[in-house]
Amino acid sequence: MSKNPWAKNPWFESVAVAQQRAKKRLPSSVYGALVAGSERGQSIADNEAAFMELGFAPHVAGHQAKREMATTVMGQDISLPVIMSPTGVQAVHPDGEVAVARAAAARGTVIGLSNFASRSVEEVVAANPATFFQMYWTGDRDVMIQRMDRARAAGAVGLIATLDWSFSMGRDWGSPEIPEKVDFKTALKFAPQVLRKPRWLTSFAGNLPDLTAPNLAAPGEAKGPTFFGAYYEWMTTTPPSWEDVEWMRKEWGGPFMLKGVCRVDDALRAVDAGVTAISVSNHGGNNLDGTPAPIRVLPAIAEAVGNDIEVLLDGGIRRGSDVVKAVALGARAVMIGRAYLWGLAANGQPGVENVLDVLRGGIDSALLGLGVSSIHELTPEHLVIADGFARTLGRPVR
Ligand SMILES: Cc1cc2nc3c(=O)[nH]c(=O)nc-3n(C[C@H](O)[C@H](O)[C@H](O)COP(=O)(O)O)c2cc1C
Repeated sequence: MSKNPWAKNPWFESVAVAQQRAKKRLPSSVYGALVAGSERGQSIADNEAAFMELGFAPHVAGHQAKREMATTVMGQDISLPVIMSPTGVQAVHPDGEVAVARAAAARGTVIGLSNFASRSVEEVVAANPATFFQMYWTGDRDVMIQRMDRARAAGAVGLIATLDWSFSMGRDWGSPEIPEKVDFKTALKFAPQVLRKPRWLTSFAGNLPDLTAPNLAAPGEAKGPTFFGAYYEWMTTTPPSWEDVEWMRKEWGGPFMLKGVCRVDDALRAVDAGVTAISVSNHGGNNLDGTPAPIRVLPAIAEAVGNDIEVLLDGGIRRGSDVVKAVALGARAVMIGRAYLWGLAANGQPGVENVLDVLRGGIDSALLGLGVSSIHELTPEHLVIADGFARTLGRPVR
């Protein structure tokens, strides 16, 4: 665990404060990669704005002294209905995904480990046995089998298949420049912005992020491909069919989540493909811009699939009350992305723990106000839902 050399009191009381600290600490290109959404940013804006269209209907008395928020996701016990969504966190903090894994373990929850992670699945499972390994549809089937075999052998207890990527290019505020590798030449090129953030630089203690993807290494290779090498393989892979989803699910052979579902018909197809869980998601607004916030499409999807599979949501979660809103509208749990990345940037492992504590406190406060003793009692009746809030995408045809 690295010590935070920056703040006198490193504790923060909200995710917004963690974000402010992350902005202060990170070089602009690294911070830019965290906040970026695709194209004009319509989806990323809606992800947070939609939660503002939901309110609460609290009680004045008759509150519950004890409130429960433990649940399970794909067979894993979690102490709060929040797990870590897979993100490529290269260069945010020297401890990277290992710090996130330790924080999740310390707070009793699961880490989703990105295909493009900077730390190996073996290291991450050692830090938190409750690890779900995330796969993109990249490479041929033999390569995918080899990567799944490695994750299974390492002890990953679930697979997240993220298939909602449309290779959208061009952001109106400019894509952050990501170097191919960090060497002396790029260090000089990025010097003006990096030198303004000397504490970020010194936190790496001479070991600059190498921007490779170790979990994509071929058998016998010490190092994985660079980020750009990995991205090229991904871009040139034929996109998956529903048969491919079923193939991957069977090949993995254990708990399997399909991440990126927005439509009712897709959710029902996922049920038919035999998945354990789906995450209702628009990739944090990084995918096809104009896709509505996941919280808007959640109610119709949750209703359509019923108890056939577990339904999670990710996108726009910034406070405990957002988690409660999602659970009230039918999510079993949520996954968080930027919230923990900002905590990681702000204060390493304790910063990620801090984010989970902030969310836990917010969930508990909402349960208290709503007069319920468990997240399992939450229903849409506990919410104030603005007219025209929800969206139903796709027809429920099987
Ligand atoms: C910087 C960044 C990198 C991401 N990398 C991945 C990834 O490698 N795999 C993946 O499935 N999702 C990835 N995501 C999407 C997240 O898993 C998640 O869907 C999204 O962050 C949720 O929205 P939120 O950030 O508002 O919580 C990434 C998101 C961000 C912000």
